[in-house]
Amino acid sequence: MKVLAISGSLRAESYNTALARAAVELAPEGVFVDLYEDLALLPPYDQDLDEGESETPRAVVDLRERIEEADALFIVTPEYNGSIPGVLKNAIDWASARHRGSSFKNKTIAIAGATTGQYGAIWAQQDLRKVLGICGGRVIEGELPVSGAQLRFDARGELADPMVAERLRAHLAALAAEVEPVAIAA
Ligand SMILES: Cc1cc2nc3c(=O)[nH]c(=O)nc-3n(C[C@H](O)[C@H](O)[C@H](O)COP(=O)(O)O)c2cc1C
Repeated sequence: MKVLAISGSLRAESYNTALARAAVELAPEGVFVDLYEDLALLPPYDQDLDEGESETPRAVVDLRERIEEADALFIVTPEYNGSIPGVLKNAIDWASARHRGSSFKNKTIAIAGATTGQYGAIWAQQDLRKVLGICGGRVIEGELPVSGAQLRFDARGELADPMVAERLRAHLAALAAEVEPVAIAA
């Protein structure tokens, strides 16, 4: 089973990207997590670039294909001013443009979020759930809030908190079970 992980942060030392990377290691057997790393290549959403004479930007075509090819998604969001970052919303808007059909339709999705503050991007995750639901995605139950993120990762950006690792492992197992209930249970 293929899971595409998307981090909503462009920062090189992003805790959210570090959490998405940790998912590559902690995924259950048979689940392969691939990290999407091209968020910064997406232009600001513009419907004119996507229809008529225009050739849809290569980065947008690639994003849509990678979402559509994946069996499930794992989307990890920072919280900016109580919501999801603009760059993540921009990617979601490109991949769900209404005039061409949404790449998220019926896609099973787990969400998570890391912040340096004490609430672990819980508002951003609530907004992300709402937005993805409107785009036709099936967001599994449960958030994964990682608070005090600067304390959970070591200097190399490796997840160093066993409790968070355990929660992440369980979250990914729940995602896999939603997609392939029988195969994963066996
Ligand atoms: C513009 C901006 C707004 C922020 N707003 C919030 C917020 O509303 N809630 C919160 O917990 N953290 C907030 N933060 C702190 C981020 O959670 C913190 O910078 C986090 O490390 C960003 O994620 P990253 O490490 O993946 O880049 C904000 C940071 C920025 C730059």
